[in-house]
Amino acid sequence: MRRFDQRVALVTAAASGLGKGVALRLAAEGAHSIIWDRDEAAIGAARDEARALGGRIEIHAVDMMDRAQIEAAVAALVERHGRIDVLVNNIGGSLHTPFHLLELSDGDWERVMAVNVMACVRVTRAVLPHMQRAGYGRIVNMGSKAGRYGSLFTGANYVAAKGAMQAFTLQIAHEFGPFGITCNTVAPGAILTPRVERLLNERQSPAERARIVASIPVRRQGTVDDVAAAIAYLASEEAGFVTGATLDVNGGQAMSI
Ligand SMILES: NC(=O)c1ccc[n+]([C@@H]2O[C@H](COP(=O)([O-])OP(=O)(O)OC[C@H]3O[C@@H](n4cnc5c(N)ncnc54)[C@H](O)[C@@H]3O)[C@@H](O)[C@H]2O)c1
Repeated sequence: MRRFDQRVALVTAAASGLGKGVALRLAAEGAHSIIWDRDEAAIGAARDEARALGGRIEIHAVDMMDRAQIEAAVAALVERHGRIDVLVNNIGGSLHTPFHLLELSDGDWERVMAVNVMACVRVTRAVLPHMQRAGYGRIVNMGSKAGRYGSLFTGANYVAAKGAMQAFTLQIAHEFGPFGITCNTVAPGAILTPRVERLLNERQSPAERARIVASIPVRRQGTVDDVAAAIAYLASEEAGFVTGATLDVNGGQAMSI
C-alpha cells in the first residue's frame, strides 16, 4: 500500500520506541516522515535505519520541553516542505514516576503533564494553521489504555494526562473538522518497548505478568507494528469520516461499547 505518497508526516519524539515504528511505517507507505527527538544517541541509530528507506525520513534534534524549539522546528519544516499533512503526537510517558497516588509529588504531576499534554498542545497549535490553510490534515494523538481504563503499572498523573489528551482530541475534531482536519486518539495497552519492558519487570513479578497476558483475549502483548498499523489507518486519507474517536489497541484487555 502507498497511502502516503506526496504526504509529509511529522512524528514527535520518534527516534526510538513506538514513534520510530510509526515514522518508518508511514515512510514505507510513501510518506516523507519527519522525526523529532532530543536523544543524540537514539537519533544516530535511527538515522542508520532510516537510510534503508532512501531519504524518505528526516530526523531533527528538538527538545520538546522548549516551546521556542517547537515553534522554530515547525516553521523550518513548513519552509522546507510547504505543508504538514499528518501530525502524530507521540511524545509522552510516565517518566518513571511512582505508581501510588499518595507517593506522587507536585513535581511528578507537573513533569508528566508537561511532556504528555503541553508539548502536544504546543506542536498542535503550531501545526494547525498550516493544515487549515491547506484544507487537509490528519492528527493522531497517542493516548493509552491507562487514560481510558486506568493502569496496572503507571500512576494517576500519567492516567490523567492521557485522559486529557483523549479529551483534547474531541475538541480539535469539533473545531477543525470544517477545515478538512480529523483528529483521533490511539490507545495502546502495554507495548513491549525497552522502556516498558524495564518498567514491567520492576513493577510486576513474572507470575503476575504471565497472569495478565493469559487474561488478554488475544493472549499476547502488543507490538510496535500493531500500533503503527492503527495509526497509519487514522492518518490516511481514507479515514476522512472518522474523527474524535479513540481506537483501543490492546488485544481486548479492556473494552467498551
Ligand atoms: N510503550 C507502551 O507500552 C505505551 C503504551 C501506551 C501508550 N504509550 C505512549 O506512546 C508514546 C511513546 O511511548 P514509547 O514507549 O515509545 O516512549 P519512549 O519512552 O521509548 O520514548 C520515545 C522517545 O521520546 C524521546 N523524548 C523524550 N522526551 C523528549 C523531549 N523532551 N523532546 C524530544 N524527544 C523526547 C526519547 O528520546 C525517545 O527516543 C508515549 O506517548 C507513551 O505514553 C506507550
